[in-house]
Amino acid sequence: MTLVRTANSAQGRGAAWTLTARGRCCESGVEGKGDLLTMWLYLAALVGLYYLLRWYRERQVVSHLRDKYVFITGCDSGFGNLLARQLDLRGLRVLAACLTEKGAQKLKGQTSDRVETVILDVTNTQSIAAATQWVKERVGDRGLWGLVNNAGTFHPFGYTDWLKIDTYMSTLQVNLIGLIEVTLSMLPLVKSAQGRIVNVSSIPGRLALFGTVYCCSNYGVEAFSDVLRRELQHFGVKVSIVEPGCFRTEMTDLQKASETMKQVWKEVPPHIKETYGQKFFDAYFETTSKGLSQISPNMSLVTDCMEHALTSVHPRT
Ligand SMILES: NC(=O)c1ccc[n+]([C@@H]2O[C@H](COP(=O)([O-])OP(=O)(O)OC[C@H]3O[C@@H](n4cnc5c(N)ncnc54)[C@H](OP(=O)(O)O)[C@@H]3O)[C@@H](O)[C@H]2O)c1
Repeated sequence: MTLVRTANSAQGRGAAWTLTARGRCCESGVEGKGDLLTMWLYLAALVGLYYLLRWYRERQVVSHLRDKYVFITGCDSGFGNLLARQLDLRGLRVLAACLTEKGAQKLKGQTSDRVETVILDVTNTQSIAAATQWVKERVGDRGLWGLVNNAGTFHPFGYTDWLKIDTYMSTLQVNLIGLIEVTLSMLPLVKSAQGRIVNVSSIPGRLALFGTVYCCSNYGVEAFSDVLRRELQHFGVKVSIVEPGCFRTEMTDLQKASETMKQVWKEVPPHIKETYGQKFFDAYFETTSKGLSQISPNMSLVTDCMEHALTSVHPRT
């Protein structure tokens, strides 16, 4: 295969590059088509080779998984809960943070006695400091191999001016400020293990289509993680972002979502309500409920990505 420069002299306009298998310029239309086909075949082979190499690179797993500690926030339910169980089965040392004692007890009943739990509210500085100390006592000089910032809340139900400022603040407090504070607190432990940080964002962290407050919090997570990744590469720490689509968890529970939507609408001040009208809300309610009833129940699509970020020698970051 050779790259040949062909003059476009008939039209007197400069020159063009043509890829030929035979290393010469093609004159006839039939040969030209053949060469084009050859070029596409080479391109397809190159793309195939790229994916093959990527697959081979990413499937290499880090050693001594059984000695590695991973701290996960928000393990009461959903992805955090499933990830804790999944990593336990894989043999890692799971340090699972739950918001409630009930959640922690439930998880303990579902896992081996290698899994340890702690109560953590990511909006509370003392709670974060206490959890960090608890982790430090367990990991010792080895440091913390993995930090998974998974805890989150989802409040997209309603238009921008239907929501109160308190809702904006509480969502940002959990999804963004909480994630940042937990990261800052645990960072020395992750650095000393040259470990991994996995931050959970979402599609609305890339595409701001609906749910302003949720989008804002996730855009923040994306920005924080992107900068952190660049800064921490000098310390051998890898930072990944996991961006799930829509999955069936506590957060997207149809019953709860319906109640939230109705409650939000009920509390919208009358002068704002008038500008939308009841019909508008009814249509919004129906569309959102329909959307939520059709989401994927396969949460392991997400936890497999988290596991990859924690266990692959070359995780996708
Ligand atoms: N489900 C989806 O479709 C989806 C899509 C994209 C991204 N995500 C993200 O995935 C992550 C996990 O969500 P999920 O879908 O698994 O929902 P989930 O089942 O509700 O899990 C969220 C977890 O965070 C905990 N949490 C809430 N506030 C907290 C706080 N202040 N401090 C500590 N923990 C707190 C919750 O505890 P309680 O259960 O006790 O409240 C729960 O364990 C979130 O960051 C979410 O934004 C989810």
